[in-house]
Amino acid sequence: MVGIMFVCLGNICRSPAGEGMLKHLVEGCDSSLELHVESCGIGDWHVGQLPDSRMRKAALERGITLTSRAQVFKIDHFNEFDYILAADHEVLNDLYHYARSPEEKSKVHLMTAFSSSYRDQKVPDPYYGGVSDFDLVLDMLEDSCEGLLQYIKQHL
Ligand code: 4NP
Repeated sequence: MVGIMFVCLGNICRSPAGEGMLKHLVEGCDSSLELHVESCGIGDWHVGQLPDSRMRKAALERGITLTSRAQVFKIDHFNEFDYILAADHEVLNDLYHYARSPEEKSKVHLMTAFSSSYRDQKVPDPYYGGVSDFDLVLDMLEDSCEGLLQYIKQHL
């Protein structure tokens, strides 16, 4: 079992979309790969909430239903997950700061670290944006999750 945790700021837009996208891609292509996928936020403002309705709508248009409930990042997540994926450089730095060892730090990457088209770019926060910003998040996450799956399969 490989554990993957997506992390953004509020856990209602980018990271739940990453969680949903990765689960969707695994369901569609490779049932033999056992992944445990979750998402969380650095901030606790939206704990317990479903993803933002605009994010859910944009995902549903691609056949992806987002059902996660917002939770906040906890230090214990370093023990429970192998890949801890940050939406942007601010979140990346927060996670680096929380890491208590080089091993924990080595689990932290940008969400786009394994992408072919968007490698090492931030996934821009769509919260104050429009429909096209939510679509861009999904485009970036689709490419990133495809790259991540390839990487995981090669490193099992
Ligand atoms: P996310 O977007 O980090 O992609 O979930 C945000 C959602 C809410 C807030 C910030 C970012 N907020 O400040 O409430």
